[in-house]
Amino acid sequence: LEFAGRTAFVTGGANGIGLGLARALLAQGCKVAIADIREDALAAAVRTLDNQSVIAVQLDVASRTGFAEAADRAEKALGPVSLVFNNAGINLFQTIDESSYDDWDWVMGVNLHGVVNGVMTFAPRMKALGQGGHIVNTASMASFLCGGAPGIYNTTKFAVRGMSESLRYSLAPHGIGVSVLCPGLVKSHIYASDEVRPSALSGGAKPVDSAAVGRLEQLHQFGMEPDVIAARTLEAVRENRFHIFPHPEFRDELATVFEEILADFRDYPEDAGFAQRTGFEKMR
Ligand code: NAI
Repeated sequence: LEFAGRTAFVTGGANGIGLGLARALLAQGCKVAIADIREDALAAAVRTLDNQSVIAVQLDVASRTGFAEAADRAEKALGPVSLVFNNAGINLFQTIDESSYDDWDWVMGVNLHGVVNGVMTFAPRMKALGQGGHIVNTASMASFLCGGAPGIYNTTKFAVRGMSESLRYSLAPHGIGVSVLCPGLVKSHIYASDEVRPSALSGGAKPVDSAAVGRLEQLHQFGMEPDVIAARTLEAVRENRFHIFPHPEFRDELATVFEEILADFRDYPEDAGFAQRTGFEKMR
């Protein structure tokens, strides 16, 4: 896939990975719409990017109508979109047993439905345009590993990975690639997610533990630079690779996960002869 001349739409584009992606796409000669819920951060990002080919679009990705309107605005200004980065995300950093329904609705709304809305908005437009393209959905290593136990976050990221894999097969005949981006720790502002929590979904929220937020802020300083993630992501898109693993150090941990999965398989003697009896190879 060639980037130059294409229009890209990047959610969560005002900060962190999204801002890194925007910078990298502009450097490749793309036009870029950065969409984000934070207006002040969008204005700052546009100033930082300092490029004629970027526009800012205010958007809450959890809103279906909002997403379609944002897409209209971006396409009117920059032409039809053929690169989509469903990247906006938040994290509550708490376990499922500590969580309320409002917590579920908020995190599922942004991390999962935000990606669904991006796909539902842009996939039909990209198919109709007929110029191929690529959709990258940002999941996380937390789409495989549950060690840190931010339960709702894990749930959404596993779902984003599954949805992306299914989408990959349905869009391939249209020349549209799909990838799932699975970073480890990133130098970003995700520790401050609570700032963008809508008041309508704040009812069941635990009080913000500012000491814990401070520790997370320090931890994220050690994360990978978004520009490095962006470069590794565009390389994978160019090669049409499905999984994007910018942090190679997780390879062994993933191998352990898959070994555990395989170790849970058993041979059941009563299944012997299934293929002869039914004409099917496998039980489904
Ligand atoms: P970030 O907080 O720096 O950037 C995320 C952006 O999304 C922010 O600008 C925020 O305003 C925006 N956003 C939040 N809610 C939104 C909504 N409802 N609608 C539109 N925009 C919204 O965080 P980061 O790390 O760059 O996050 C990007 C993605 O990377 C997320 O999906 C996150 O889950 C994922 N990720 C982050 C990791 C990390 O260590 N920071 C690790 C693995 C994955």
